[in-house]
Amino acid sequence: MKDYTLWTLSWAICAIVLLFSSHGAWGLIAGSEHDFSTHAWSEGEICLPCHTPHNADSNIDAPLWNHEMSTAIYTLYSSPTMDVIADQPGAASKVCLACHDGTISIDSFGGMSGSISIGGNADVGTNLADDHPVGIDWNHQTAGSACTTCHPIIWVDSVAIMTFPPTPMFNGKVECPSCHDPHNGFDLPHLVRDTMAGSQLCFNCHGDK
Ligand code: HEC
Ligand code: HEC
Ligand code: HEC
Ligand code: HEC
Ligand code: HEC
Repeated sequence: MKDYTLWTLSWAICAIVLLFSSHGAWGLIAGSEHDFSTHAWSEGEICLPCHTPHNADSNIDAPLWNHEMSTAIYTLYSSPTMDVIADQPGAASKVCLACHDGTISIDSFGGMSGSISIGGNADVGTNLADDHPVGIDWNHQTAGSACTTCHPIIWVDSVAIMTFPPTPMFNGKVECPSCHDPHNGFDLPHLVRDTMAGSQLCFNCHGDK
């Protein structure tokens, strides 16, 4: 990518960020499903079960990580109609599975050994064969739609700029945070990154299928 393209792109991103942050419905983690501060086990804090300002676990590929990690080996989704093969979940999914695979107590953070299990629907378990695959390569060739289906063009000072869907990849792969924002930045039920009305979240990657 040429330098000037990056330059205009970063300005476009600033413009988009400004546009969104002036929007009243922009979500906050406070009050969301990931705000544990009303539960005694969180010590009344929001960030602490996941992050700590000091003595974080620097082996984990997530900022200032504070939660005990799972060592589970997962049963993976497989399908003859998929172009790609699912791998064990990558680092970006493993931080979610630290609580959501049900093998580690949610209150096992900051070096403490907890006792409260996540339970209910939020426990996705170690069998991921019945879940949308993660740890899979994002292969644009499988999309079969025009670029602008998923990357609408916006005009900034007469310059055409390609926009990006709100569903990011991690090391080029689909992982749990491709569809969910742990901080509730999009203010939607189930912490998703785009609305499920009309299955819009899915179209970000599956195009006009
Ligand atoms: C339930 C777990 C969880 C909670 C609670 C949580 N975070 Fe995070 N946070 C994550 C994960 C996972 C990532 C890395 C993945 C990502 O960026 O989406 C992250 C990334 C970050 C980052 C770096 C990337 C970014 O998005 O800016 C910052 C800064 C951050 N968190 C701050 C906070 C603060 C401040 C709080 C409390 C108000 C908080 N987080 C609460 C899980 C959590
Ligand atoms: C510190 C433990 C912890 C971590 C780490 C964590 N979660 Fe959660 N998460 C929870 C708990 C506890 C709930 C609330 C469950 C409930 O309401 O019963 C929850 C709720 C959710 C929900 C909403 C469930 C619903 O019923 O709508 C989603 C979606 C979710 N988490 C996804 C993620 C993803 C994706 C990540 C990683 C980016 C992540 N979580 C990391 C503990 C965690
Ligand atoms: C079905 C939807 C879809 C279609 C069609 C599509 N993209 Fe993407 N594209 C995405 C998603 C989702 C991402 C990941 C977004 C992110 O990383 O923030 C992405 C990322 C990208 C990136 C960033 C680098 C990368 O590979 O992650 C580029 C460049 C890109 N697309 C170009 C294109 C071009 C050029 C076309 C047409 C030939 C195209 N895309 C068609 C959905 C699509
Ligand atoms: C392809 C997108 C996608 C991926 C990848 C994904 N999720 Fe979800 N997840 C969703 C959607 C959409 C919902 C809401 C389902 C609904 O509306 O009924 C959801 C719901 C949930 C819930 C709420 C409980 C439930 O069953 O409804 C939890 C917890 C959750 N996801 C955790 C995870 C974890 C952990 C990962 C990674 C292993 C993950 N998700 C990967 C899209 C995704
Ligand atoms: C972040 C990008 C992304 C999002 C968002 C997404 N998917 Fe996927 N999904 C993929 C990729 C990549 C594959 C693997 C495609 C392949 O290799 O053929 C896949 C695979 C699948 C498969 C399995 C196909 C097979 O042949 O077995 C189904 C079904 C599916 N997705 C449905 C959904 C639904 C429903 C949603 C919305 C809730 C959704 N996806 C959202 C990226 C995504």
